Amino acid sequence: MKKFVQVGCGIRGIEGYAEPILKDFSEHIEMCGVYDINPKRAALVSHYGGKDVPVFDDFDEMLSSVKPDTVIVTTKDSMHDFYVIKALKAGCDVIVEKPMTTTFEKANAIKAAEKESGKTVTVVFNLRYLPFFARVKELIKSGVIGDVLSVHYEWLLDTQHGADYFRRWHRKRENSGSLLVHKSTHHFDLVNWFLEDDPIAVNAFGSRKYYGPTREKRSQRCLTCPYKKECEFYLDINQPPMDKLYLACEDVDGYYRDSCIFSEEIDIEDTVSVNVLYKKGAVMSYSLTAHSPYEGLRIAFNGTDGRLEFCKLDGRYSEFGQGINNVITIYNRSGEKITINTPQDLPGGHGGADEKIRENLFIGCKSDPLGQMADVRAGMMSIGIGMAANISMKENRRVYLSEFYDD
Ligand SMILES: NC(=O)c1ccc[n+]([C@@H]2O[C@H](COP(=O)([O-])OP(=O)(O)OC[C@H]3O[C@@H](n4cnc5c(N)ncnc54)[C@H](O)[C@@H]3O)[C@@H](O)[C@H]2O)c1
Repeated sequence: MKKFVQVGCGIRGIEGYAEPILKDFSEHIEMCGVYDINPKRAALVSHYGGKDVPVFDDFDEMLSSVKPDTVIVTTKDSMHDFYVIKALKAGCDVIVEKPMTTTFEKANAIKAAEKESGKTVTVVFNLRYLPFFARVKELIKSGVIGDVLSVHYEWLLDTQHGADYFRRWHRKRENSGSLLVHKSTHHFDLVNWFLEDDPIAVNAFGSRKYYGPTREKRSQRCLTCPYKKECEFYLDINQPPMDKLYLACEDVDGYYRDSCIFSEEIDIEDTVSVNVLYKKGAVMSYSLTAHSPYEGLRIAFNGTDGRLEFCKLDGRYSEFGQGINNVITIYNRSGEKITINTPQDLPGGHGGADEKIRENLFIGCKSDPLGQMADVRAGMMSIGIGMAANISMKENRRVYLSEFYDD
């Protein structure tokens, strides 16, 4: 049986990996150890998974004593490269959460380490497994709209989900690479995958005017905030799972899960607009809004033989999209409008995508006709757009990925 270890025991690490591995995949793989910079949080793996798992206080020691086949990396984004490269050097395969990393230099270092090690890094792009997106991929691949010439793409986060990125480590560019890397890596990966093409050039604009020090009535954190009764963003960290995972562990590392979203410390954008040119000639205009009144996405592909559109709203807002939500519509050159029945989300995390990808990660991927498993190259290309967009905004210029990547 293959031996797995995991570094990073926050909400994603526990709910997405350690807990399901221990509960659902123990006949297939063995979870032999966990490590987190916060040992109290790492110790919770046994609690959530219902089985004792060794907690190590040193990552290198975990590698040398367990000699795992695979290392799962679910730390904060900016530390992914550190653990991925160490694991590869120790002769392990790696499963790393998105975004693969946060800078071009780190991405190139992961690529080189993977090549040198002969081992494999899998980047977790679970959204490729959402039945709805898989259907879009099939349709575009089938050539129903011909060659894609342009993509119009809007992604909206509401003030519940969107605000959450401004409460914790994500709000500092040095940790997350900004929302254009941390969050948009999912969105860019989907388009790269749909088009089976690579981005080559990026222009971007962005701002942060909703979160950050935009109101006077702010504090360090919700728990002790004098305005908690009147603030619509008040987060009660005494609620599960935040109480055990964060509040009870914060004495070790000072990680406040409920930091104020109006803090001066925030240095990432909450509104961005990005233009991308692809190698085969398609152009994309993309926007991300982290303070929308509702959550969802709209996308349109204009092809040589027609146009494909869809809209997907978060379940909490499905009534806003009556008639268009979860519907794929194709307009062809014969003047027809064709409505495609779309698969519904499945129960489980991210519309059932998490369950599907876990089977492939932990039992094995026998066939992959849509190319849903993602490699280092996919990880590099999706973050490449976000990192190039960051440079474009900072230096006020068009940025080519070839400035940083060899191919
Ligand atoms: N694919 C998805 O849909 C999805 C969803 C959520 C999160 N994620 C990814 O999962 C990762 C973790 O996110 P999260 O929401 O669980 O965050 P989190 O803050 O809950 O957990 C991060 C963990 O990393 C640990 N950590 C921080 N620095 C470390 C270091 N130097 N060494 C070891 N451990 C360290 C923290 O103590 C914490 O336990 C992120 O990369 C995020 O992008 C992916």
